[in-house]
Amino acid sequence: MSAKVTTLSLREMKKQGEKITMLTAYDYPTAELVDEAGVDTILVGDSLGMVVLGYQDTLAVTLEDMIHHGRAVARAAKRAMVIIDLPFMTYQISREQAMANAGRVIQETGAQAVKLEGGEEIAEAVRGITGAGVPVLGHLGLTPQSVGQMGGFKVQGKDLETARKLVRDALILEEAGAFGVVLECVPWAVAKIITEKLSIPTIGIGAGKYCDGQVLVYHDVMGLYTGHRPKFVKQYARARQEMMNGVAAYIQEVQQGAFPGEEHSFGMPEAVVEELKKVLG
Ligand code: KIV
Repeated sequence: MSAKVTTLSLREMKKQGEKITMLTAYDYPTAELVDEAGVDTILVGDSLGMVVLGYQDTLAVTLEDMIHHGRAVARAAKRAMVIIDLPFMTYQISREQAMANAGRVIQETGAQAVKLEGGEEIAEAVRGITGAGVPVLGHLGLTPQSVGQMGGFKVQGKDLETARKLVRDALILEEAGAFGVVLECVPWAVAKIITEKLSIPTIGIGAGKYCDGQVLVYHDVMGLYTGHRPKFVKQYARARQEMMNGVAAYIQEVQQGAFPGEEHSFGMPEAVVEELKKVLG
């Protein structure tokens, strides 16, 4: 088995120009699959709220939800590094709150790192968590936990002022100790500049090809999510259709009495059956 991916291996991959792969997972079988397929990092994103729990956004996701799902993913991932989102309002209140909740996530799941959304405003939290020895992945650009303030799921950093702020925030996160930064929904030119300025890796989602790595939501990649599909998503499989075919075939065979067949049933000696019938009258 290959060695576990670490923050150091990710930094080395950036240095060598090797692209980093990241996919989300929220349960054991999916984490087992993407790990076995060779993904470098698994993100237990709070996109959990939308693609697994059926919420409209990520705001209702709790720390307990993340721990519950994170634990299952961490149990399955042999090689991939597992990173867990700290959900809305579990790190914004104070450095102490952020440290305590990051500590809980790491201790109770067995994951290797946490992800926080935001720039300068969360730098103190990042300093606290990394100071306690927990690796932190930053997240800039479209930060879904602030979707209300952003006025919707929109591309960020399209003008000079907001683009400069993105670059500044990325540098602040690096200085605060983050081992990498997710850039979501930002123009590729801004992502390229940030990637060149940082010595830590950038992981893009809707941020173009110049990032050091890419992340997508598993349910989008596999064609399992029926909600809105953003422009930056590429669907690589039609798993939902395949699963639907399986379920429909099962229903049909049960209804027609074709399942279960003999090969799925357990026999017993005929003499015992006869004896049983006699005893029962
Ligand atoms: O929650 C999530 O899945 C994420 C990725 C989209 C980066 O934050």
